[in-house]
This record gives sequence, structure tokens and C-alpha cells, in this order.
Amino acid sequence: MPLPAGHPLVERRTSHSDLVRAYSGDRPERLPVWFMRQAGRSLPEYRAARVGTAMLEACLDPELASEITLQPVRRHGVDAAIFFSDIVVPLRLAGVDVEIKPGVGPVMGSPVRTADDVARLRELTLSDEALAPVSAGVALTVAGLGGTPLIGFAGAPFTLAAYLVEGGPSRDHLAARTLMHADPETWRALTGWAADVTGAFLRAQVLAGASAAQLFDSWAGALSLPDYVQHVAPASARALGHVADLDVRTVHFGTGTGELLAAMRDVGADVVGVDYRIPLDEAIRRLGGRTPVQGNIDPALLAAPWPVLEAHVRDVVARGASAPGHVVNLGHGVPPDTDPEVLTRLVGLVHSL
Ligand code: CP3
Repeated sequence: MPLPAGHPLVERRTSHSDLVRAYSGDRPERLPVWFMRQAGRSLPEYRAARVGTAMLEACLDPELASEITLQPVRRHGVDAAIFFSDIVVPLRLAGVDVEIKPGVGPVMGSPVRTADDVARLRELTLSDEALAPVSAGVALTVAGLGGTPLIGFAGAPFTLAAYLVEGGPSRDHLAARTLMHADPETWRALTGWAADVTGAFLRAQVLAGASAAQLFDSWAGALSLPDYVQHVAPASARALGHVADLDVRTVHFGTGTGELLAAMRDVGADVVGVDYRIPLDEAIRRLGGRTPVQGNIDPALLAAPWPVLEAHVRDVVARGASAPGHVVNLGHGVPPDTDPEVLTRLVGLVHSL
């Protein structure tokens, strides 16, 4: 299906942006840079905007979500906005009892553990009407962005299933990994449902004006390559399949995924996001040198003295030179206590290299 008339890629507002060019395997004169979790607690204007509004309510308020999305673009001059939302928003919109507890993360009213739990979950569907606040928030944001592309995003089925099965954040995702082996049929039903719900959320953002789409499989690094390929990759491919007919570049990111990089590309992603645990040139080698990459500044170094951070950023950029395209980013999200002036300075440094 062609992108709708008025979409920034169709109107060519963002089709030649440095971000879209790098995602397409090109090398623009200036290296594009943005930061995962650039909208959030590191910004005083974010903390002020959020006073009195719970996280998921903020995500579903189109005006507020749009304002928060634009804040880091105005302040830092990054090459992309990422829509302010959360991976569990589509679960909430489908009717799942989920909250985001400050300082904790997503917490479920009750965990989804048995075949019966999954059967009940599968009765919930995500309609276009339910997605209206997301589409409205994206449309408002894109209208304010001009030539800066908006990245839409969604959680990958494994990371969503990890929260659903555990009932909240966990370290090793033991219950989820047990279920995938103990009852593969129930696991397939659960991750297939998650793929369709998260895929619909991603598609709504692209249709409403996002110029790229990123799938976050934050916790996929808990899996061996064989487990990933057998029990997770099919559902991730199904999630990305929801935007496969749209002419938009896709990025696939997870943490601790050094062993999984090629498999994560092969589910249908154009670009692979690399975390900070593997040198970028080694990641590019593992991807056969033919895949654009995004990453991988260590977020810990944002709090180090500037010369230490600068040397690290120069090293990341040098290692990224062997990829067909490179979008500079962190190897995971911005820590909440980051000095925002460091991020602004970092954008200037990357643009000067
Ligand atoms: O700026 C951006 O990157 C866009 C917004 C964004 C949020 N969540 C906003 C948010 C994105 C892309 C996400 C994705 C997300 N959410 C992921 C994948 C990326 C990753 O970090 O690995 C995951 C695993 C979640 C689940 C989640 N939601 C966690 C772990 C937390 C943090 C809990 C905490 O308080 O430390 C959230 C809440 C959340 N999502 C916040 C933000 C800005 C913090 C809410 C607050 O301000 O209190």
C-alpha cells in the first residue's frame, strides 16, 4: 500500500533527511544522531510537563505527547524525533490491565502464565478507533517537525511477552523462558497475539506520519541464538510484517544481542541497532558489512569527563565507518540523571566529525 498523501516521505519533507538517507544505506555529508529515551526525565521541561499526569495517560494525550516528543529536538538539534509513548501502550489500548510504575516500569494487574490466561488475552483486539489518540499525537507532532523525521516505535513480541508472563520487570525473564520450552504452543499463541497488537501500533504511527519505524526487543539478549531463532524470530517477523507493505525503513534494536545481530536483521529489518557491549566494527562484521547500523555510545560515559566521552564518541564514529550507513545513538537509553547540556554538546561533536 502506498503511504497516504500528505505523509512527510510522500511530500519529500523527510525523504532526503540525513536520517532516512543513512537508514537507506547512504552516507550523507553530516552523520545523523539521536538518542534513545531523548524525551524523558533528563529534561527539566519534560519533568515540568509531566507534573500531575501518570505516564500512560501522558502517552494517550495527543497534545502532551506531541509537546514532549518535540522538546529534545528543540533543545539538542537531534536529527530525529522519536514518538513519546511506551511499548505497553498498545497492550493498554487492547484492554490489558497494565500500569507504568515510576522508577519500576510496566506492571501487570495479573501475569499471563497458563494456556487459559493466553486464551483470555487473545480475546482482546486492538481496533483503529482505540489507536486514535496515537494517530492524533503523531499527526500533531509531524506538523510541528518540518523536515525532521519522526521515528515510530513498538516493543517486540518477546519483550512484551516477558512483561506479560513475569507480571512486571525481571532480571533473567525466567518465567517467560520456561513457558517457551514447557508449552511452546501457548508461547506461540501469546507471541503471535503480541505481534499483531504491537504491529498495529507501529503501523498506525507510520500511516499518521512517522518516517521510520523501530522495533525494541530490549530483553532479547536473555536468549541463546537457537532459542531466538526458533521461539522468537517468527513473531518478530510477524510484527514487522505489519509495516512491510509501506515504503519506510525499519530498525531492530535489543540489548546484549551481540550473538543475535544477523538473526535480528533477518526477521525483516533494514537497520540493526547495536548496544554498547560489542564494538561497532565487530557488529558490522557480524552483519556481513551490508547492513546500516545505529549506535552505540555507552550511556555510562555521558557522566564521564568530556575528554573521556569525546574520545569514546570519536572511536564509535571511526568504527562505524565500515557500515553502508551509520546513525549515531547510545547503546541504550539516556539515564534519567544525565546533564542535558552534555547531550547538546554531543550532537555538535557528531555533526562536526
Ligand atoms: O524518548 C524516547 O525514547 C521515546 C519514548 C520511549 C519511552 N519508552 C518513554 C518512557 C520509548 C521508546 C520507550 C520504550 C520502552 N519502554 C522500552 C524499550 C526501550 C528500552 O529502554 O529498552 C521498554 C523496555 C519500556 C518499558 C518501560 N517503560 C521501562 C523499563 C520504563 C522505565 C521505568 C522507570 O521509571 O525507570 C518505562 C517508563 C517510561 N517510558 C519512561 C519514559 C520517558 C519514564 C516514565 C517517567 O518519566 O516516569
